[in-house]
Parts: sequence; C-alpha cells; structure tokens
Amino acid sequence: MTIETTHLTDVDDLSADDLAAVLDRAAALKSGADDARFPRATLGMLFEKPSTRTRISFETGMTQLGGHAIFLGPDDIQLGHGEPLRDTSRVLSRYVDAVMARLFDHADLLELVEHADVPIVNGLTDDAHPCQTLADLLTIREAFGGFDARAAWVGDGNNVGQSFALGCALAGIDLTVSTPPAYAMADDVLDRAAELGSAPTVVDDPKEAVADADVVYTDVWISMGQEDQRAQKLAAFDGYQVNDDLLRGTDAKVMHCLPAHRGEEITDAVLESDRALVWDQAENRLHAQKGLLAELLE
Ligand code: CP
Ligand code: NVA
Repeated sequence: MTIETTHLTDVDDLSADDLAAVLDRAAALKSGADDARFPRATLGMLFEKPSTRTRISFETGMTQLGGHAIFLGPDDIQLGHGEPLRDTSRVLSRYVDAVMARLFDHADLLELVEHADVPIVNGLTDDAHPCQTLADLLTIREAFGGFDARAAWVGDGNNVGQSFALGCALAGIDLTVSTPPAYAMADDVLDRAAELGSAPTVVDDPKEAVADADVVYTDVWISMGQEDQRAQKLAAFDGYQVNDDLLRGTDAKVMHCLPAHRGEEITDAVLESDRALVWDQAENRLHAQKGLLAELLE
C-alpha cells in the first residue's frame, strides 16, 4: 500500500490508514521482513537547528534503504546567506528525491512545500515534530501491544507535545494534557485533534494528569531558540517535573523525545529507571522514518 499524502508537515497529513501503513512498514523493516531498497534515492536534509537523533536516524535510514542523504546545515548552502527559501525548494526538487527539513518557523516549512516537486518531511519546527510522533506511536504499540493505552503529556505544549496529541487522536490513544496555562497547546491543534475523533482532556494539575496513565511523556522546558526565555520558563514550569513524587502510586512508563535536561523537566532517577521507554523511542526514529521514506519514495 502507498500512502496518500505527498508531504509530512504534521502527523495529521496522514489518514488513519496512512498511519497504520507507515507503522506496519516500519515494523516490517525493523524485523527484517521487508528489505525495501531505493538505490538511486537521495534525501536532502536541511537543518536550521542542531540535532543528534533526527540527523543520524535519517542519514542512517537512507543508507540502509540503499540510498544517500546530504546534510545541509545553516552555513553550508546559500539559504543561510540570503537565497530565498522558495528558490532553495525549487532547486533541491531538481536534484533530490525528498527533503527533510528542521526549521524554526512552521510557515517556512509550508513555503518549502508550496514550491517543492518532491516530498517534504518535517524534521521539527517550532510547532510540530511528526517524525518523533511516528516513533512514539511505534514505541507505544510495541510496549502495550497496540494503542489501548492511556497517555499523559506533562510540560510544554509546543512542537513535540502538539504532534503527539494529534498522533494520539489519530491512533485512538486516550490522552490527558497538563501544561502551564501560558504554554498550552494551540487551539487549532486541539481543534484538529477533535476533528480526528478525540481532543485531549486538559487538566491543570500534573498529578491528576498522570493518575491513571500507562505512559507519561515530557519534553524540555527550554526548546531550541528559546534560550532567552530561560528564567521565565523555569518559573512557569515549577511543579511540572516528571519525578518519583509525580509518578508515585502509578505503574506508568515514561517517554521523552530527548535530548533531556536532567533536573529540569525530568529527574536523572526517572530517566535511568526501568520506567523509561526513551531509548526505544530514539531507536524507533530510525525504523519509523524508514517506513515513512519507503512509503513516500515508492
Ligand atoms: N528528538 C529529537 O528530534 O532529537 P534531536 O534534536 O537530537 O534530533
Ligand atoms: N521541544 C524541543 C524538542 C527537541 C527535539 C525543541 O524544540 O528544542
């Protein structure tokens, strides 16, 4: 089966059937049951922000699929020296088979899409991180044998959280969200989740959010590009740390997209405990993205 969407700007570009196809493909590639090969395929990887997992999993994934990936950092191409995004998109489309882009402004990603003739995959913007969500859903499916799990999001309601909320809605995972009021998920994301069938339940108290959760997910409080908001955000997120106290009385597993800032949004003890699914999540970036690329390149 080939998925219907051409681009992945956010998780809800995928239908429920598309999502199942990508995850099934990822699982087949992970188990070795599928040996998809794209020997002449090249992925352009545009990065405005740093990365460990996204860069390495996409580059390794393309190698394993028999293709090639090119790292295009902020200083490597003319985009960083004033060439317009639209021109970059048109020119990249003449060379490569797909583009993965990690940008600040989500509107820039949509501009890239508007002028591209090849699939554009969002590798994180300030608003969304759909590739992370694909890996997260694969991890939940493996850990719980499906999507019959209750999830809680505790922390910042920006990119990773917003895509996770959309992914939960698409997969049918029951999600409860607790963020500081000033860092709530955007209304349009909650509306889109509702349209997909289930907006998350929003509660003020993180303890209430995790009370019935099978899995608790958090992300950094100071995202890339927000370093100047550090003092203000640390104050706003006081009480939202995922720690032993918050998790006491639950059997919940813990998820984090990484990189983690131990001592801020999560403690070292929780991250190092057997609650943590974080290393499987990181590994599953590779498999989930290979599943996505295989579907997009076919
Ligand atoms: N989770 C994630 O996207 O990590 P990187 O910033 O290392 O790519
Ligand atoms: N919210 C984080 C996610 C990093 C993968 C950030 O934007 O920096």
